Amino acid sequence: MHLASTFAAVALVVLSATLVSSSLSCAQHSHGAAGHGGDAAVGANPGPARGPADDPRTAVAFPAEMREHTLANMRDHLLALQEIQSALAGGRFDAAADVAERRLGMTSLALHGAHEVARFMPPGMQDAGTAMHRSASRFSVVARDGAATGELGPPLSALAELTATCVACHAGFRLSRASVPPAA
Ligand code: HEC
Repeated sequence: MHLASTFAAVALVVLSATLVSSSLSCAQHSHGAAGHGGDAAVGANPGPARGPADDPRTAVAFPAEMREHTLANMRDHLLALQEIQSALAGGRFDAAADVAERRLGMTSLALHGAHEVARFMPPGMQDAGTAMHRSASRFSVVARDGAATGELGPPLSALAELTATCVACHAGFRLSRASVPPAA
Protein backbone atom coordinates (compact mmCIF):
# COMPACT_ATOMS: atom_id res chain seq x y z
CA MET A 1 0.00 0.00 0.00
CA HIS A 2 2.69 2.43 1.06
CA LEU A 3 4.93 1.09 -1.69
CA ALA A 4 2.15 1.46 -4.24
CA SER A 5 1.63 5.12 -3.42
CA THR A 6 5.37 5.74 -3.61
CA PHE A 7 5.35 4.22 -7.10
CA ALA A 8 2.39 6.34 -8.05
CA ALA A 9 4.24 9.46 -6.88
CA VAL A 10 7.35 8.52 -8.85
CA ALA A 11 5.19 7.90 -11.91
CA LEU A 12 3.69 11.38 -11.47
CA VAL A 13 7.11 12.99 -11.30
CA VAL A 14 8.16 11.14 -14.45
CA LEU A 15 4.90 12.12 -16.12
CA SER A 16 5.25 15.80 -15.31
CA ALA A 17 8.89 15.73 -16.44
CA THR A 18 7.71 14.21 -19.71
CA LEU A 19 5.00 16.85 -20.06
CA VAL A 20 7.52 19.62 -19.53
CA SER A 21 9.92 18.22 -22.08
CA SER A 22 7.18 17.61 -24.60
CA SER A 23 5.81 21.14 -24.22
CA LEU A 24 9.38 22.35 -24.64
CA SER A 25 9.85 20.42 -27.84
CA CYS A 26 6.49 21.78 -28.95
CA ALA A 27 7.79 25.29 -28.39
CA GLN A 28 10.87 24.43 -30.40
CA HIS A 29 8.68 23.11 -33.16
CA SER A 30 6.68 26.27 -33.55
CA HIS A 31 9.99 28.09 -33.19
CA GLY A 32 11.26 26.31 -36.29
CA ALA A 33 8.06 26.98 -38.21
CA ALA A 34 7.94 30.64 -37.21
CA GLY A 35 11.62 31.08 -37.99
CA HIS A 36 11.18 30.68 -41.74
CA GLY A 37 9.60 34.07 -42.09
CA GLY A 38 11.92 35.18 -44.91
CA ASP A 39 15.08 35.66 -42.83
CA ALA A 40 17.89 34.94 -45.32
CA ALA A 41 20.48 34.73 -42.53
CA VAL A 42 18.78 31.61 -41.20
CA GLY A 43 19.42 29.77 -44.46
CA ALA A 44 23.02 30.99 -44.61
CA ASN A 45 23.83 29.70 -41.16
CA PRO A 46 22.82 26.07 -40.61
CA GLY A 47 23.78 26.11 -36.89
CA PRO A 48 21.16 26.32 -34.15
CA ALA A 49 19.38 29.64 -34.56
CA ARG A 50 19.79 31.82 -31.48
CA GLY A 51 19.47 35.35 -32.82
CA PRO A 52 16.61 37.70 -31.92
CA ALA A 53 15.25 37.46 -35.49
CA ASP A 54 14.57 33.78 -34.95
CA ASP A 55 13.37 34.10 -31.36
CA PRO A 56 9.77 32.87 -31.19
CA ARG A 57 9.10 34.49 -27.80
CA THR A 58 6.87 37.53 -27.57
CA ALA A 59 8.93 40.58 -26.62
CA VAL A 60 7.31 42.61 -23.86
CA ALA A 61 8.33 46.19 -23.05
CA PHE A 62 8.40 47.27 -19.39
CA PRO A 63 9.47 50.63 -17.97
CA ALA A 64 13.24 50.36 -17.30
CA GLU A 65 12.94 50.34 -13.53
CA MET A 66 10.24 47.67 -13.60
CA ARG A 67 12.36 45.57 -15.91
CA GLU A 68 15.25 45.60 -13.43
CA HIS A 69 12.88 44.93 -10.55
CA THR A 70 11.29 42.00 -12.41
CA LEU A 71 14.64 40.40 -13.25
CA ALA A 72 15.74 40.74 -9.60
CA ASN A 73 12.46 39.05 -8.60
CA MET A 74 13.19 36.27 -11.08
CA ARG A 75 16.56 35.62 -9.50
CA ASP A 76 14.79 35.38 -6.17
CA HIS A 77 12.33 32.89 -7.71
CA LEU A 78 15.27 30.67 -8.62
CA LEU A 79 16.76 31.05 -5.14
CA ALA A 80 13.38 30.13 -3.68
CA LEU A 81 13.28 26.91 -5.74
CA GLN A 82 16.74 26.03 -4.43
CA GLU A 83 15.68 26.69 -0.84
CA ILE A 84 12.55 24.56 -1.35
CA GLN A 85 14.64 21.67 -2.69
CA SER A 86 17.09 21.90 0.22
CA ALA A 87 14.25 21.99 2.73
CA LEU A 88 12.56 18.94 1.17
CA ALA A 89 15.85 17.05 1.09
CA GLY A 90 16.26 17.77 4.81
CA GLY A 91 12.70 16.65 5.59
CA ARG A 92 11.73 20.24 6.53
CA PHE A 93 8.34 20.16 4.82
CA ASP A 94 6.92 23.17 6.64
CA ALA A 95 9.92 25.32 5.72
CA ALA A 96 9.49 24.31 2.06
CA ALA A 97 5.80 25.24 2.27
CA ASP A 98 6.60 28.63 3.82
CA VAL A 99 9.17 29.59 1.19
CA ALA A 100 6.79 28.63 -1.62
CA GLU A 101 3.85 30.54 -0.24
CA ARG A 102 5.70 33.68 0.82
CA ARG A 103 8.06 34.06 -2.15
CA LEU A 104 6.11 32.48 -5.05
CA GLY A 105 2.54 31.88 -3.93
CA MET A 106 -0.56 34.02 -3.83
CA THR A 107 0.81 35.70 -0.67
CA SER A 108 3.79 36.99 -2.68
CA LEU A 109 1.66 39.04 -5.09
CA ALA A 110 1.74 42.25 -3.03
CA LEU A 111 5.44 41.72 -2.28
CA HIS A 112 6.21 41.66 -5.99
CA GLY A 113 4.08 44.68 -6.83
CA ALA A 114 2.34 42.29 -9.19
CA HIS A 115 -0.56 44.65 -9.80
CA GLU A 116 1.76 47.39 -11.10
CA VAL A 117 3.70 45.07 -13.38
CA ALA A 118 0.66 43.19 -14.69
CA ARG A 119 -0.53 46.33 -16.54
CA PHE A 120 2.38 45.93 -18.94
CA MET A 121 1.87 42.21 -19.58
CA PRO A 122 -0.10 40.76 -22.50
CA PRO A 123 -2.97 38.56 -21.24
CA GLY A 124 -1.11 35.28 -21.91
CA MET A 125 1.77 36.44 -19.73
CA GLN A 126 -0.59 37.51 -16.95
CA ASP A 127 -2.16 34.05 -17.08
CA ALA A 128 1.28 32.42 -16.89
CA GLY A 129 2.07 34.52 -13.81
CA THR A 130 -1.22 33.59 -12.17
CA ALA A 131 -0.58 29.91 -12.96
CA MET A 132 2.77 30.14 -11.15
CA HIS A 133 1.31 31.81 -8.05
CA ARG A 134 -1.53 29.25 -7.89
CA SER A 135 0.84 26.35 -8.40
CA ALA A 136 3.15 27.59 -5.63
CA SER A 137 0.23 27.87 -3.22
CA ARG A 138 -0.86 24.34 -4.21
CA PHE A 139 2.67 23.07 -3.60
CA SER A 140 2.57 24.70 -0.20
CA VAL A 141 -0.57 22.77 0.77
CA VAL A 142 0.86 19.46 -0.51
CA ALA A 143 4.14 20.06 1.34
CA ARG A 144 2.27 20.66 4.59
CA ASP A 145 0.47 17.33 4.09
CA GLY A 146 3.92 15.81 3.60
CA ALA A 147 4.87 17.02 7.07
CA ALA A 148 2.11 14.75 8.40
CA THR A 149 2.72 11.71 6.17
CA GLY A 150 6.50 11.96 5.76
CA GLU A 151 6.11 11.11 2.08
CA LEU A 152 8.35 12.98 -0.34
CA GLY A 153 6.66 11.87 -3.57
CA PRO A 154 3.64 14.18 -3.65
CA PRO A 155 5.62 17.36 -2.74
CA LEU A 156 8.23 16.51 -5.40
CA SER A 157 5.51 16.05 -7.95
CA ALA A 158 3.91 19.37 -7.00
CA LEU A 159 7.35 21.01 -7.23
CA ALA A 160 7.79 19.68 -10.77
CA GLU A 161 4.42 21.20 -11.68
CA LEU A 162 5.47 24.51 -10.15
CA THR A 163 8.75 24.49 -12.11
CA ALA A 164 6.79 23.74 -15.28
CA THR A 165 4.98 27.08 -14.85
CA CYS A 166 8.36 28.90 -14.91
CA VAL A 167 9.33 26.99 -18.05
CA ALA A 168 6.02 27.76 -19.76
CA CYS A 169 6.28 31.52 -19.31
CA HIS A 170 9.95 31.57 -20.34
CA ALA A 171 9.09 29.65 -23.51
CA GLY A 172 6.54 32.28 -24.51
CA PHE A 173 7.87 35.66 -23.40
CA ARG A 174 10.96 37.79 -23.05
CA LEU A 175 11.56 41.36 -21.94
CA SER A 176 12.49 43.63 -24.81
CA ARG A 177 15.62 45.74 -24.52
CA ALA A 178 13.71 48.86 -25.42
CA SER A 179 11.63 49.96 -22.46
CA VAL A 180 8.51 52.06 -22.32
CA PRO A 181 8.58 55.31 -20.30
CA PRO A 182 6.99 54.89 -16.82
CA ALA A 183 4.06 57.13 -17.73
CA ALA A 184 2.97 54.97 -20.70
C1 HEC B 1 4.83 35.33 -16.13
C2 HEC B 1 6.05 34.92 -16.77
C3 HEC B 1 7.18 34.33 -15.96
C4 HEC B 1 7.11 33.39 -14.96
C5 HEC B 1 5.88 32.68 -14.41
C6 HEC B 1 8.47 33.17 -14.53
N1 HEC B 1 9.32 33.94 -15.24
FE1 HEC B 1 11.35 34.05 -15.00
N2 HEC B 1 11.46 35.41 -16.50
C7 HEC B 1 10.40 35.87 -17.25
C8 HEC B 1 10.88 36.78 -18.27
C9 HEC B 1 10.01 37.48 -19.30
C10 HEC B 1 12.28 36.85 -18.13
C11 HEC B 1 13.27 37.64 -18.99
C12 HEC B 1 13.73 36.70 -20.11
C13 HEC B 1 14.40 37.43 -21.26
O1 HEC B 1 14.13 38.64 -21.46
O2 HEC B 1 15.16 36.77 -22.00
C14 HEC B 1 12.63 35.98 -16.99
C15 HEC B 1 13.90 35.80 -16.51
C16 HEC B 1 14.24 34.94 -15.49
C17 HEC B 1 15.58 34.77 -14.97
C18 HEC B 1 16.83 35.53 -15.41
C19 HEC B 1 16.98 36.76 -14.51
C20 HEC B 1 18.11 37.71 -14.97
O3 HEC B 1 18.73 38.33 -14.12
O4 HEC B 1 18.33 37.82 -16.19
C21 HEC B 1 15.50 33.81 -13.99
C22 HEC B 1 16.65 33.25 -13.15
C23 HEC B 1 14.10 33.39 -13.89
N3 HEC B 1 13.37 34.12 -14.81
C24 HEC B 1 13.63 32.42 -13.01
C25 HEC B 1 12.29 32.07 -12.89
C26 HEC B 1 11.81 31.00 -12.03
C27 HEC B 1 12.68 30.10 -11.17
C28 HEC B 1 10.45 30.98 -12.18
C29 HEC B 1 9.46 30.07 -11.52
C30 HEC B 1 9.48 29.88 -10.09
C31 HEC B 1 10.11 32.02 -13.13
N4 HEC B 1 11.24 32.64 -13.54
C32 HEC B 1 8.81 32.27 -13.54
C33 HEC B 1 9.08 35.55 -17.07
C34 HEC B 1 8.58 34.66 -16.13
